[in-house]
Amino acid sequence: MYFRTMKKISVFASGGGSNLQSIIDASEKGMLNAEVALVISNNSSAFALERARKHGIKAIHFSTKTHPDPAIYTQELIKLHSDMKIDLVLLAGYMKLLPKPFIALYSGRILNIHPSLLPKHGGKGMYGHFVHEAVIAAKDKESGVTIHWVTEEYDEGPIMMQRSIPINHDDTPDTLAARVLKVEHAVYPEAAALVLSGQIRFPNRFTEK
Ligand code: GAR
Repeated sequence: MYFRTMKKISVFASGGGSNLQSIIDASEKGMLNAEVALVISNNSSAFALERARKHGIKAIHFSTKTHPDPAIYTQELIKLHSDMKIDLVLLAGYMKLLPKPFIALYSGRILNIHPSLLPKHGGKGMYGHFVHEAVIAAKDKESGVTIHWVTEEYDEGPIMMQRSIPINHDDTPDTLAARVLKVEHAVYPEAAALVLSGQIRFPNRFTEK
């Protein structure tokens, strides 16, 4: 007889947290063999924190306001994750950069979701609505969702999974955002499950220098 221990996820979110909700729902349905143990937001009024609390998940406002000293900020973030034995970190609409020592410690165990087909429409200032505006302005034929590993280069981490959708001739940034978000809610739990089960691993060529 053996016991499968439940893995632990932390989710970082700055806003509404609909992706966080999709991860919580997948976990509660037993699709992940993992629980969302911790939710962190840089924004004290983020609805994501409320969503977490409704599910009895530890939800913390963690920012330069709560931790003005960058060294202590980093130290506390690392301590919290190691004390709680977090296995996987998911960025879900998190608009801040993570400290480099944290990324180094969790290398190969941090994923981000981006609402376009990276490397198109990524990088600084490209988040949420700005992404969909840029996609429409570029008259692209398709858009979609990218899940990528987070490295110190941030948006340039290796792509783990992509799902594309066609762009309709009458799409606006809002209609496109809504359709992409629906795909995000399906794809992120799928990606998390593949990493948690060890079926997909961080590519070695990024760790071997
Ligand atoms: C999502 O569309 C996510 O892909 C995007 O922010 C939204 C958050 O929505 N992330 C980025 O643009 C990151 N560059 P949510 O708070 O409802 O999950």
